[in-house]
Amino acid sequence: MSTTTMRIASTSLCIVVGLACTARGEHPAGRPTLKEAFSGDFLVGAALNTAQSSGQAPDELALAQRQFNSITPEAVLQWDYIHYQPEGYNFAPADQFVALGEKYDMFIVGHVLVWEDVTPKWVFEDEAGNPVDRETLLSRMRDHIHAVVGRYKGRIKGWDVVNEAIDDDGSRCQNAWQRIIGEDYIEKAFQYAHEADPDSELYYNDYCEWYPAKKIAFANLVRDLQSKGIRIDGIGLQGHWSLESPSLGELEAMFADYGKLGVKIMITELDIGFLPEVNPSQYGKDISELSSDLDPYADGLPDKMERALADRYAEIFACFRRHRDKIDRVTFWGVYDGQSWLNYWPVGGRSAYPLLFDRELQPKPAFDAVIRTAKQPR
Ligand code: GLA
Repeated sequence: MSTTTMRIASTSLCIVVGLACTARGEHPAGRPTLKEAFSGDFLVGAALNTAQSSGQAPDELALAQRQFNSITPEAVLQWDYIHYQPEGYNFAPADQFVALGEKYDMFIVGHVLVWEDVTPKWVFEDEAGNPVDRETLLSRMRDHIHAVVGRYKGRIKGWDVVNEAIDDDGSRCQNAWQRIIGEDYIEKAFQYAHEADPDSELYYNDYCEWYPAKKIAFANLVRDLQSKGIRIDGIGLQGHWSLESPSLGELEAMFADYGKLGVKIMITELDIGFLPEVNPSQYGKDISELSSDLDPYADGLPDKMERALADRYAEIFACFRRHRDKIDRVTFWGVYDGQSWLNYWPVGGRSAYPLLFDRELQPKPAFDAVIRTAKQPR
């Protein structure tokens, strides 16, 4: 059955049995949207994929427009997408993304300028394949940042300047930026971004943000940049969390600690994963090659798990509201479950349910649980 036929069939079923369901992505009457519910607290954003920002997924885009007041691109501003080869930039998809955010009057986030995982090999190598020297790499970084930030000057309001540069033990990742340029590559990236758009906010973004060693390292980074007079406006906490971790106590401690830094705090990539853990030796494989035990909800999510997800989201958003004075924005990593990276990583072809809207773009019990936290007294 085609998707359209299924949609018509399920709508007719609703009419026949008198269920209160809506067309794909339509918002149920009487419920506030996320951006309305948290309008006095923080921005609520979502990451858009390329199909959404280029207009190829109109229902998904309409849902994003209704629910969110900030957008981040999943891919179109990453180095390997926008500047895959030394010559020339692939600006058209990012142009569409930025125009869309302006059309809908959303806070537009730029993700990401310096992140080793998405940097093409050519950036670090000369024509013979040998590592370039410090000055060459600095100049490539500066050119890239000036080209990309400069193009969207005054339009992209905040940039994830550097992503994932600190290991879980708080030490610097020994990535190619660090190996070739040295310790100061982060401050150089922030300086170049500030030169290219002096009015844009600049953030450092990372994961496992509640680990004590990371909290200390992020704080040291902020203080170090500030002591050198380099602009840094905020810390992006990715928020790839699970049903149990980080615990509520860890979240509370995290906001209390980051709150002392005096910079903006954002949750930048929120989702709640609860599929079984995968042995690292199986990373990158497709589920068809592996045990189906690793994909327990392929036929749908049982009510018990829907409730567990709703309870977890309620706990998290109640915590966000308690710390609303420190939190500037909460962005989900995707608009709806069908688009989540957790369907494809660490193994492909699984069914993940980490967000607030299901594969039919309908609000899940977790959505209602989140909205209810907005009504609680602070
Ligand atoms: C990281 C990155 C994002 C994205 C997500 C998951 O957190 O910052 O760009 O790749 O992982 O897809």
